[in-house]
Parts: sequence; C-alpha cells; structure tokens
Amino acid sequence: MAEKETATGLSRNLSTYGDKDFARYLRMSFARSMGHSNEMLSRPVVGIASTYSEFNNCHRLVPELVAAVKRGVISAGGLPLEFPTISLGEVFLNPTSIYFRNLMAMDTEEMIRGQPMDAVVLVGGCDKTVPAQLMGAVSADVPAIQLVTGPMMTGRWRGERLGACTDCRRFWARYRAGELDGPTIGEVEGRLATTAGTCAVMGTASSMALIAEALGMMLPGTAAIPAVHADRIRAAEMSGVAAMRLARSGMRPSDIVTPASVENALRVLLAISGSTNAVLHLAAVAGRAGISLDLAHLNALSDSTPVLVDLKPTGANYMEDLFAGGGLGAILRELKPLLNLDCMTVTGETLGERLGGEAADYVDPSVVHSRASPLQPHGGLVALFGTLAPNGAILKRAAADPRLFEHTGRAVVFASLEDLAARIDDPDLDVEENDILVLQNAGPGSAACMPEAGYLPIPAKLARRGVKDMLRISDARMSGTAYGSVVLHVSPDSASGGPLGLVRDDDRISVSVSERRLDLLVGEDELARRRAALPPAPQAPQRGYARLYSQEILQAEHGCDFRFLTRFPDRIQLSEPSRRR
Ligand code: FES
Repeated sequence: MAEKETATGLSRNLSTYGDKDFARYLRMSFARSMGHSNEMLSRPVVGIASTYSEFNNCHRLVPELVAAVKRGVISAGGLPLEFPTISLGEVFLNPTSIYFRNLMAMDTEEMIRGQPMDAVVLVGGCDKTVPAQLMGAVSADVPAIQLVTGPMMTGRWRGERLGACTDCRRFWARYRAGELDGPTIGEVEGRLATTAGTCAVMGTASSMALIAEALGMMLPGTAAIPAVHADRIRAAEMSGVAAMRLARSGMRPSDIVTPASVENALRVLLAISGSTNAVLHLAAVAGRAGISLDLAHLNALSDSTPVLVDLKPTGANYMEDLFAGGGLGAILRELKPLLNLDCMTVTGETLGERLGGEAADYVDPSVVHSRASPLQPHGGLVALFGTLAPNGAILKRAAADPRLFEHTGRAVVFASLEDLAARIDDPDLDVEENDILVLQNAGPGSAACMPEAGYLPIPAKLARRGVKDMLRISDARMSGTAYGSVVLHVSPDSASGGPLGLVRDDDRISVSVSERRLDLLVGEDELARRRAALPPAPQAPQRGYARLYSQEILQAEHGCDFRFLTRFPDRIQLSEPSRRR
C-alpha cells in the first residue's frame, strides 16, 4: 500500500530514486525547462485531462476549452498543466467504443494518480469519455471536476431542422423503406452534424452530461450549454477557478459520489427519459465508489419519477432548446421534493443550497414540463426480469410502442451480428409484424463486445409494408439517440451462458412491462438439452488488451466494468468462463 500523499503541487507524487530531495530537485530542474517562473512552479497544480483527438469530432473545440480552464486556474492562483489521455470518438472505433471505455478509465485514473496534481479538470464529452473520466476520477479520488464539450447545434435540410443522431436514424429508415434515393440520403448526410460538439438530442452524451451535473461533479448550469456558445468557454474558465477551490478544500469525488447522489442522478435520468447506456455507465461509476446500482431500485424510482423533458428521441426538441428552456436547473427544481438535497457538489454547496440560491429563471414549459403536468407519469426506463433475463434487462419504455408493453410472440432468432446482416432483408425471411426479433451474441462477453446493435432494423419486407416498430430483444446496447420497442442489456448475455443464447426460432417469448417480466416460454428440460448441445466457446484472445477484456469484463448490471477495477471486486462473480469468448 502506497503511503498517503501529504505534499502539494509539484512536490506531490515524487518519482522514486530512493532520495526524495534529489527527486524534487530533478523535477524542479526539468519543470523550469518548460519556461515557468519559480512563482508559478510553487503554486498548487491543477491537471487538465485533455481528450482532443482528430478521431473525435465531438471534441473539436477541446483546445479552446483547455485554454479557458488554464485562464481560470491561473486567475485563482494555481498552475494548470494539461495532459493527454485516450479519446473515444463514438463512430471512429472498431469494434465499438464501449470496448475501450475501461481502457480510457484506467488511463485517466493512473495519470491522475501518478502525476503531481492537487485537483483535476476532466474535459470530455462524447458518449464513453465522460463515464470513463468519472470512473477514473472516482477511483483515483483526487479532487476533480467534470467539464463537457457541450452539444452540437442543429442543422437545416430543405426547411427541416435536423440534429444528430435521432434524425440520422429516421432518414436511414426512410431510405431503407425505399422512400429516399441515394443522392437524397447523401444530401441529408451532409446536414446532420454541422457543428462541433456532442449529439444534439438526449442521447448518451447528453444524458451523461446531465448526470454528471446531477451527481454534483460539474458546475451548476453547465451541462446543456451548446459547444459553440460563448457560455461554454466561460464555463471552462469557471471550472478552472472551481478546481482551485477544490484543490484548497481537498474535497474529493468520494465526498460527492454517494448512494444519495447516485439516486439523484438516476431520478434525473428517468425524468429526462435518458439513454439506456447511462444506466450502464452510472452503474460503473457507482461501482468505483463501492455503490451497487440495483435495477429493482431503478424500477422503484421509475414508478415515482415523471418524465419532464421533451427532447428527441422520445420527444420533439434538441439540447439547444433545453439550454434555452432552463437547462438542468429547471429539471432539478421540479424534481426537488424527490431529491436528496444534502448531497455535496463541486462548488462546496449542497444540492439543496444550490437550488435554494438559484433564481427561478425562465423555463420553457414546452421543453421542461412541470411535475403537475408531466409528459409521462412514470420514468422513461424500466428493468425487466424473468427466465430470459435472470439478472435483468432494460427497456426504454418512453421510446417504445405501448401496444407492445404486454405482448407474447414468436421468436425470430439471429445468432450473431453477421447472421443478422445476412438475413434481415432476405425476402424469404419467415417473419411477421407481431413476431419478436432476437439477437444473440452481441453482449459484453461476446466477440462483438456489446455494440449499439440492439436497435435491430425492421426487416425490409415489413418496412416496405409500413411496419415502423417491432419488439426486439438482445444482449446488445442501443444508441441513446435511437427509439423503438427495444429490450437491451439482457443479462447474463448469451455468450456468457445466459438463457438468451438458448432461444430458437418459433419459441414463445412473453414481455410484461406492468409485471416487469421477460420470459422464455420453454420448459426446463428442453433448455437443458439445448444447453448441452451448445458448441464449445471460441478461444479467448491470448494477448494485449483483448485478453484483459475477455478475462475481466462484467455483465451489464455491473456497468460492464472490469471486475478488478471495482471498489470491492471480491463481491462480484465473473460470468461462467466456459461460455465466455
Ligand atoms: Fe460523440 Fe454522439 S458521436 S456524442
């Protein structure tokens, strides 16, 4: 166990030479080579975790934000030192960005812990970067504050307002249905993402930004500021100032991320009808603090939390409208009676003090509804349990067709993503509108590493007949910008021995949202026969990060973290190794 660090500034975390004075002398000598004055080098140090990358469009303006953070740190008497970490650009990564989230979390944690900083500003934004930074910061437990890059502005196409990426999917569905031709979809492609910043709707990035603020890890009022708005630069400067306050007070993530603040974050996630991915990420962040996110508790919260925010993909508006319409402050004020107000935040105020001191600004009631007149009386997400998902599954009921909430249907099974791609548009596919599409081997234990593939396309022959939605079930994830009657995160996943891998064509599956059930209506004997006939698991990767991933990945209810990175790894079982890739 390393001895507790008591030094500050550049004297923290000295390199090991067996002579501390020599190590300090050497460090200061090299630090002076960077051209800082002795006065600057004697100040408290604020690290700035920069995720700028030309493989990440959402982070295009990170350099401008980092410059503003530095301004804030210097004005508050500190020395800002920027350092790079891995950056995860959602659409630029293969096999899928979630595969790298834990790697980024490890990078962030170790660089915070290993370098001399009294506080850190985490500059992230795209889907996996914010959870990775929060996971790393909670584990390192050095005073930390999150700053996000902010959402994109919307674009226009032939008079229609477009924003990534709910509209991407809407237009792609129209293209698949034969309503749009190739040149037209090419035109749309150029209008969907027209500024720097994260996806413009209530996708995973927006959900995680609001969650980070609700947790207390981000400055009040900053989650929804658009990427290109001047307020975003001011938020960066103020985050630098706030980081210096944290450096002086010593308040750490462990003072902020508590069971009560995680519950607040869940309430907000439900009220914004946020991304299903955010459940997974919040479970991982909480797990780093030793807090278990119980899906049964999520259901209890969902029953008592109304949907207040009208944003795509479930509603009509975009993040820029939420910013103009009151931002998270408006949501928190409506939710106040349901929140734990004693939770501490990075400002040094409790949530209750924040809300007590916040002027009741303008609120656009078409974007943020009141509790007296909610969009929906219950939360946007619900967990299902049953013989098909013993450890749970997630349904974004706010994005689903209520006609399918109580439904029993015939399974049409795709054994893998490759099988799905090969057959979904086959004119001879035996499928009807009331069938249930099942995708296997797309969970965290599969070679596919849980991609956002749970939004299975409607088979082309049904799409052409006008079918817009069907019940779809998988162990995969779904983009927060997508919508439809889609059951995700089935756990245990099929590649890890879960019953999802035993489903066969023509089986009956029953879903009951009212009962919170997801059941495979097949007898135990038959399932045992099928289990015994499963082929052996493919050989696990033998080297590198892929090997680590395959050996340590946890199921969705644990946030797909690596077991050895959670606070209490001995309390968590890994999946059945014989079935894992
Ligand atoms: Fe980065 Fe959507 S691609 S937030």
